[in-house]
Amino acid sequence: METIKLHDRTFSPYLSAQEIQDAVVRLAEQINNDYRGKDLLFLSVLNGSFMFTSDLMKHIILPCEISFMKVSSYQGTESTGRVDELIGLNSQVLGKHIVLLEDVVDTGVTIDKIIRLLQTNNPESVEVCSILFKKEAHIGQNRPKYFGFEIPNKFVVGYGLDYNQHGRNLPSIYQLKT
Ligand code: IMP
Ligand code: MG
Repeated sequence: METIKLHDRTFSPYLSAQEIQDAVVRLAEQINNDYRGKDLLFLSVLNGSFMFTSDLMKHIILPCEISFMKVSSYQGTESTGRVDELIGLNSQVLGKHIVLLEDVVDTGVTIDKIIRLLQTNNPESVEVCSILFKKEAHIGQNRPKYFGFEIPNKFVVGYGLDYNQHGRNLPSIYQLKT
């Protein structure tokens, strides 16, 4: 098995492109079953989930909207400190059944922030679908209802995931060699 080098680190093959595609098909089937007849909006969290989103969407057979957004944190004027906002969200959320698409749910802090912000616009429901779930690292309020693989709390790259912005283009997933 070939290791790869990104910047100063070495990574070993972890999940093959075929294993990932099989998981993507399984996730799409679950969503196709669960959201029949519902007003469905996929919200893809950039940058990491671009590849997962693209692959998953090819297997969704339901009428749906697809939108992309980022979550960012800025210094607000209040003494409370940092304020989170969703950037690029230009879809109507009210009354929609939302499926958030993520590359990985790690601590869960990111999805918690996004869900809290989305709730202010009264969606009908919000669930999370991620290709990876680091269950051991998870400390958040929300868990992904749909996930491809539960993985250990180790750093991975590929299939959208980066190490200092490199590795996102790899069709398979690699784990940091320690
Ligand atoms: P969380 O807020 O801790 O759940 O982290 C979510 C975000 O951290 C993901 O969307 C990724 O951008 C990043 N992240 C977490 N684990 C990894 C990893 O192993 N490789 C690359 N990025 C990661
Ligand atoms: Mg990310």
